[in-house]
Amino acid sequence: MKFDKHGILEMTKVNYDPIRPKAANPIKIQDVSLRDGHQSLFATRGRTEDMIPIAKLLDDIGFYSLEVWGGATFDVMHRYLNEDPWERIKTLKNYITKTPLSMLLRGQNVVGYRNYADDVVEAFVQRASDNGIDIFRVFDALNDFRNFQTVIKMIKKNNKHFQGTICYSLTEPRMGGKTYNLDYYLEKAKQLEELGADTICIKDMAGLIAPYDAYNLVKALKEQTDIPIHLHTHFTSGMADLTLLKAIEAGVDIIDTCMAPYAYRTSHPAVEPLVISFLGTNRDSGLDIKKLAEIDKEMEKTIPKYKHFLDDTKNAIIDTNVILHQTPGGMLSNLVNQLRQMDALDKLDEVFETLPKVRKQLGQVPLVTPTSQIVGIQTVNNVLFDKDGEEYTNITEQVKDLCFGLYGKTTLPIDKEVQKKALKGYPRGETPITKRPGDLLKPELPNIKKEFKGLAKNIDDEILCALYPVTGRRFLNWKYGHEDIPEDVKSKTLDDVKNEQELVRKALSGELTTKKNKPDNARAFDVYVDGEYFNVEVADPNARQTGFSFKKKEEISVENETGNLIAPIPGMIIEFKKKIGNEVKAGDTVLVLEAMKMFNNLGAPCDGVIKNIIRKAGDSVAKGDVICQIEPKE
Ligand code: CO
Repeated sequence: MKFDKHGILEMTKVNYDPIRPKAANPIKIQDVSLRDGHQSLFATRGRTEDMIPIAKLLDDIGFYSLEVWGGATFDVMHRYLNEDPWERIKTLKNYITKTPLSMLLRGQNVVGYRNYADDVVEAFVQRASDNGIDIFRVFDALNDFRNFQTVIKMIKKNNKHFQGTICYSLTEPRMGGKTYNLDYYLEKAKQLEELGADTICIKDMAGLIAPYDAYNLVKALKEQTDIPIHLHTHFTSGMADLTLLKAIEAGVDIIDTCMAPYAYRTSHPAVEPLVISFLGTNRDSGLDIKKLAEIDKEMEKTIPKYKHFLDDTKNAIIDTNVILHQTPGGMLSNLVNQLRQMDALDKLDEVFETLPKVRKQLGQVPLVTPTSQIVGIQTVNNVLFDKDGEEYTNITEQVKDLCFGLYGKTTLPIDKEVQKKALKGYPRGETPITKRPGDLLKPELPNIKKEFKGLAKNIDDEILCALYPVTGRRFLNWKYGHEDIPEDVKSKTLDDVKNEQELVRKALSGELTTKKNKPDNARAFDVYVDGEYFNVEVADPNARQTGFSFKKKEEISVENETGNLIAPIPGMIIEFKKKIGNEVKAGDTVLVLEAMKMFNNLGAPCDGVIKNIIRKAGDSVAKGDVICQIEPKE
């Protein structure tokens, strides 16, 4: 059998033996279950303890590499899981001794959401190398490769693998048009070759790349360069398996897949069907399907801990709209979660309608972390807060930074009026820069060392604090026993999960006694059931009677007295700009609130004096929470 239309796939010999003759040009496969897989499906909540049982099994498969770190893992681990991100690499390295470990690095953004100074970037890459990362997949959200400069220097110094990455982006349903066309990608690949890339990755974070576009792009890249080409695509729109098939026919060298339990939806194609699809051809991966099935079985065991993170509002596991609004999976789940918490899920369609306009105004940037969050949250702000025809009434600090050039060069110029409005009173100056952002940033580590003296015990702690000062400090306080570890960041056993589900089931089916009179010792808990929010009041477990009352969120009213500064969106307080006793004018920034990783300045609701500060920096607040009170001026 020969598919000579493309001259690629030849059946060598039908052989179903797990140990079969080596294919002439086997497709190399990177498994990304332990990074992008759970990041895409389970909000990055995968815990190291659940990775350990499969780590050695994965190592025995013969994958090209295993992507296990970087991206959102660093943030989520110390913020929500009470886990030291550095420990994960070291632990996995103990079990994975044969297969190279790979990480996703956001260039000068490292694993954060802004550009950091060169000293932070250098220290991070050095420690990631020391701790066990072999392959660095480096990308920049703007495809501005000046942001790779420092990272490349350090990767090469450590003799590690530099994978230069091009973020795949579109402005229309297929590759082409004025901006993101074949020439754009070929030119970017040429730049990466000049920078000394060991491999080149096309990173299609939103699952936008159509099968024939992948074919043409890979074919053109293979003709232009001898550097191996690696394709990373998500299943989100439903095209990914077809896309990988065509990319393999075009000669792509390496692909990314997940183990079946972590595959599909906004994640990646599963490896198992691909192994069979290419069995006996000259691109046969050579992987053992029986061994893969054993890993699947092992992974399914811990799925009950994570399943509730799946967006189950629809039956379809694909999202056709992705092709229309070009939103990566991670951004999609962020937007849905954020709007849900703000009781504004009905605004989702409006957000998607507004998004292309905001994106164009902000320089038609690719949508990938952090630009996806920057464009996403600004769109949410515009939809929720703009009125009377005035645009950009609430501009996030990150949009201001983008307008200043602090992220690098945008694909197209930023809308002049938006830029002017964003930079009005901007502390670094009102004229945007054109040089490499890193050149502007002064070393950050000396200050961090001073600020976290006594708390941070080593360079890894210090880097954590440099990247995440607020949540990093909170984590180190947990780590070194200075503060009690909150229940919601502790790990749960499968039994805990079973008991919770049983309780929820009983509550929903009315099997629990509902009492009209609330017991005195009732305590309130927030519970999400099937995407719906309930405020559950549970009596003290030692009490003889147990009462449950369900109250839908809409019924919970917020008392809004004049002078109360209320959180307009859920988030975490980063810092207060004012103290008790300070005089403020209406609109003066009182505090900075982080929502969806973006900073929002919250202004005073009226003229007056700060009377009372109720919540402190580091606190998480819900929409409607009173943060501080201002004595209004008569
Ligand atoms: Co991805």
